[in-house]
Amino acid sequence: MRIVIGSDHAGYELKMQIKAYLEAQKYAVIDVGTDSATESVSYVDYGRSAAEEIVSGRADRGIIVCGTGIGISIAANKIPGIRAALCTNSFMAEMARRHNDANMLALGGRVLAATYAQTIVETFLTHDFEGGRHQKRLDSLE
Ligand code: RB5
Repeated sequence: MRIVIGSDHAGYELKMQIKAYLEAQKYAVIDVGTDSATESVSYVDYGRSAAEEIVSGRADRGIIVCGTGIGISIAANKIPGIRAALCTNSFMAEMARRHNDANMLALGGRVLAATYAQTIVETFLTHDFEGGRHQKRLDSLE
């Protein structure tokens, strides 16, 4: 599975910790930036860049991080075909996959500790969409 990751400056530290975790798990990782925790940038640009990797087919799933996860999830969800879920726990991540077929996970770098965030990431990457009645709802979203 190819995972695209992206963040603004406020999400940079958590993004890098997640990147190390994913690489240790042998996932192929595409990092669209940003590359600094000190240079202020817009979450809009990185949410969009990560989303474009998904809709182009270059990545299968995405993980995006800003300070709260809110701005970058809103930005990614502006791109047709993106279903970005802001999750603060593993139950939300599991349901985001099983019921919403979320293709991106949004996290808050100023909200979550890295080891806790890792469990959310692992849950997101290891659950599948259930289809059925949930597919009809996704179809109506499109
Ligand atoms: C950056 O200061 C912060 O506003 C941003 O990372 C994010 O939390 C916005 O939703």
